[in-house]
Amino acid sequence: TAQVELVEGCRLPVLRKNQENEDEWPLAEILSVKEVPGKKLYYVHYIDFNKRLDEWVTPDRLDMKKLQFPKKEAKTPTKNGLPGSRPSSPDRDVVRDHTGSLLPTTFCAYLSTAQCPRSTNLHPTLTLKIVRCQMVVGRSRVLVFACCRQNGTTRRLVPSQPGRKRKNCGTDEDSQDSLDGIPSAPRMTGSLVSDRSHDDIVTRMKNIDCIELGRHRLKPWYFSPYPQELTTLPILYLCEFCLKYLKSLKCLQRHLTKCNLRHPPGNEIYRKGTISFFEIDGRKNKTYSQNLCLLAKCFLDHKTLYYDTDPFLFYVMTEYDSKGFHIVGYFSKEKESTEDYNVACILTLPPYQRRGYGKLLIEFSYELSKVEGKTGTPEKPLSDLGLLSYRSYWSQTILEILMDLKSDNGERPQITINEISEITSVKKEDVISTLQYLNLINYYKGQYILTLSEDIVDGHERAMQKRHLRIDPKCLHFTPKDWSKRGKW
Ligand code: ACO
Ligand code: ZN
Repeated sequence: TAQVELVEGCRLPVLRKNQENEDEWPLAEILSVKEVPGKKLYYVHYIDFNKRLDEWVTPDRLDMKKLQFPKKEAKTPTKNGLPGSRPSSPDRDVVRDHTGSLLPTTFCAYLSTAQCPRSTNLHPTLTLKIVRCQMVVGRSRVLVFACCRQNGTTRRLVPSQPGRKRKNCGTDEDSQDSLDGIPSAPRMTGSLVSDRSHDDIVTRMKNIDCIELGRHRLKPWYFSPYPQELTTLPILYLCEFCLKYLKSLKCLQRHLTKCNLRHPPGNEIYRKGTISFFEIDGRKNKTYSQNLCLLAKCFLDHKTLYYDTDPFLFYVMTEYDSKGFHIVGYFSKEKESTEDYNVACILTLPPYQRRGYGKLLIEFSYELSKVEGKTGTPEKPLSDLGLLSYRSYWSQTILEILMDLKSDNGERPQITINEISEITSVKKEDVISTLQYLNLINYYKGQYILTLSEDIVDGHERAMQKRHLRIDPKCLHFTPKDWSKRGKW
């Protein structure tokens, strides 16, 4: 065994299993050391991985040969990278528009080469002209949509919905939305907390080992400020309906004889099939809201709210069975947001993740914004999984609209970014970043053009077939309140 002393801040490769259950030796930093009878244990953070993978390891998993001692102000290299689903430019051959006419060869040439300069300003009132044309490449058909003309006369293609006032879009005609500063790839790695000074040693480490919630056992990913004396328990027991935490199964059972909640408190504002949403006022149901935040913090790295729940509403999504309405996930929302935030924190509990519930929560948040007649955006920063989910939701929502646009009387359909934003309630910056992320925006002879490759169209259609869980706006019974007129909450 090694004789050198391993201290906090040391870095070395540590053995872990990857998703395919294969051994790998990523570089890790030691965050803490503890002694248990007979051996030492090391709490490690894998440098290029999300903090939720941090764990206690035994010394046999450490590669002492490659040990690095702590350097002052060592910078963590961050590895950005999502394998972008960027469409490659279709090969040039013959391009016809939807009427069968050949398009100019310069356009064809452009399709295979041109790229939108990243620094281009994309004005939200810019008219995106949709040209649905068929591109023949060899023998395969490639569908191409193209959009063009900046600030030409805009013809509304999609009638604005009557009776819906828009507060946040279409008013600031002069604002220049630059594509600069829009992240091009989600951060897959590292902690979201950039300021290490707030990231003290206690809150950097998971403190709860296991939570029992109804029929689920949850393994927390991050620190959560449950009372210190509960952090030594092998299992923390939660009442799945009121979210009260208890130190033993016995205490939970006693609680269950008294607790008669079978659903979250608050108003059920949506029900379709077995899915319901409850709206909970953080001021009126303080204990529930705080308990929800404590649970949520176990899976949220970068959020600090637990006690001051007054300024928030909580939308809890449940699934119903004969035993009650079981919490699946939730999002919180500021009663009044000066930054157009329509979601503060969002979470799908791990047993339900990767089954479409996250996108259902997101869809619901935008349905609320539609009723409010506002556009909205999630609070920043987003987590890695949050960004993936939002990207996926935005892409599908925008592509759905672009592909539904019909050309009428032979004219090419067109739409502006503001209009996409109005229809979807997605804030225009997010519309722009999504168009950019999908690599749809191109620039041709002074005009903006959107092109949708066959890959994009096919990928979208396949994804939409898999998207079974959808919000039905008819089942939403929601009247927004004007919180500014209510004194201070
Ligand atoms: N790895 C890769 N992709 C993933 C993963 C993952 N672990 N989890 C979700 N995705 C992708 C899915 O593939 C899907 O995209 P696709 O349909 O295009 O394939 C998309 O993200 C959404 O998947 P859903 O099943 O709808 O989402 P899920 O129910 O898993 O919930 C959520 C997503 C809420 C982000 C969940 O991962 C979670 O609760 N994470 C912990 C808390 C968190 O990070 N919340 C967001 C913080 S940001 C904020 O609060 C504003
Ligand atoms: Zn209870």
